[in-house]
Amino acid sequence: MIPYPSKVELKKSKFTLNSKTRISFSPDLMHVADYLKDLIRSSTGFNLANNLEANKKNTISLVLHDTSEILNSEGYKLSINTDNIIIESRTHKGIFYGIQTLRQLFPIEIESREVIEELIWTVPCMSVVDTPRFKWRGLMFDVGRHFHDVETIKRTIDLLALLKMNIFHWHLTEDQGWRIEIKKYPKLIETGSKREDTKIGGWASKKFRGEPHKGHYTQEQIKDIVEYASERFITVIPEIEIPGHSSAAIASYPDLSCESKEINVPTKFGIFNDLFCPGKETTFEFLENVLEEIISLFPADIIHIGGDEAPKKKWKQCKDCQRRMKDEGLKTVHELQHYTTSRIGKFLASKGKRLMGWNEILTETLDRNFIAQWWMRGKRNVKKHINEGGEVVFSNFFRVYLDYNYIVTPLKKTYFYEPNLKNIKPEQDRQILGIEAPIWTEWVPDRDRLDWQLFPRLAAVSEIGWTIKSNKNYKNFRKRLIDFSRRLDYLGVKYADLKEVDPNPLKRIWNLRRVFKWPEI
Ligand code: ACM
Ligand code: ZN
Repeated sequence: MIPYPSKVELKKSKFTLNSKTRISFSPDLMHVADYLKDLIRSSTGFNLANNLEANKKNTISLVLHDTSEILNSEGYKLSINTDNIIIESRTHKGIFYGIQTLRQLFPIEIESREVIEELIWTVPCMSVVDTPRFKWRGLMFDVGRHFHDVETIKRTIDLLALLKMNIFHWHLTEDQGWRIEIKKYPKLIETGSKREDTKIGGWASKKFRGEPHKGHYTQEQIKDIVEYASERFITVIPEIEIPGHSSAAIASYPDLSCESKEINVPTKFGIFNDLFCPGKETTFEFLENVLEEIISLFPADIIHIGGDEAPKKKWKQCKDCQRRMKDEGLKTVHELQHYTTSRIGKFLASKGKRLMGWNEILTETLDRNFIAQWWMRGKRNVKKHINEGGEVVFSNFFRVYLDYNYIVTPLKKTYFYEPNLKNIKPEQDRQILGIEAPIWTEWVPDRDRLDWQLFPRLAAVSEIGWTIKSNKNYKNFRKRLIDFSRRLDYLGVKYADLKEVDPNPLKRIWNLRRVFKWPEI
């Protein structure tokens, strides 16, 4: 089982699923019951009939109720007996997680999308009482550097559900591509979702793919994905980068930048100097109109506005930015970013949404209702944010950036990551929302590469987020991964070979010498 549950009590004997097995559930739970029925039908061929009464013989019962054993709203209790299976929780989400655990206890063939005849579908009898360690268990997916289609996004969401992860942070805008249809600004797609070419072969390379790249999601596709995720109890948090990583928007509407100069959507990667110009009122008008459409598409109460890697060279030379600074009494361009973040934050708050951003947004006086996502540097600001009541999601660059290869970031290094800072008081623990692993896609052009980068490390990330510290055990995790990988085989996931995910230390050090040149990965 991955992520490993809080408490497992193995018993003797087995439950056997057969064509006569029934399912019982309160009418409210139709949707999760259907999910379980579909899972069972596609591999076993059994069409589980409904049973009106719970806890009968040869029945899987999904029961919603308050039980003192299950304290957390995401927790559940799974009891597998010779005669029946019972999943109990306070919430639909908890029942869904109980189903995911049950799924992993069936023979791996349960993952098959074709009916497998002549297999005896047994599950070992046991009692599982389970609850997650952190409430935020996320993956961030960059679709700006390389577009990934709807099917790939849905498949990724399915894999998150299998791992009991609950946040899909969708990085939708980048220098190299704007990926979401905004009705009011059609050029964001006409111009901003396309580029002439793409750098390949890693940071040190001079090679290009030699073909254009494009892609975007229509608002209908976005709604469909948000709904798909919500059926799997996954919240989709959109990210619209402000003020940096915005070259594609500026290529579409040059007036959004300080110089109003025409630029192309970049074909190389890195950090660019073209930022949104916060000196002009028209920039805020654009951003608010975009965010208005974003808010109408994403029901989550959090909107991510990026805020990372924004070199402010052009703000220093821009007469509009300088006038804004004078009018607002801002002494530095950093204060101008603070002004921008705060103003967008107020706009979002007026729509009932909370702002989230990378840790570069943090300043001495930032609204502590904003959520910070820590990735690198700036720990002092993160600490202050927590001390003043702010909440933080942890995404340590050296441990959970899944776009690096296994020489840079071995599986074991990811597994043992603890989302925390030194000297956090116990009463501040609940401000540590949890863990999020980013997958940036500069060098991830397709699904096979995505699979290799994500797996098996995403399984380790799920255990960081879910499993209590005293139950974390690397040797045991590696053992469980063998079975889990066979499940992934059924799901068509092309994960990295377990033999290569923990390279020997000497080989690692030798290769790390080249990291500064960003070796071909
Ligand atoms: C980041 O990796 N620039 C958040
Ligand atoms: Zn400006």
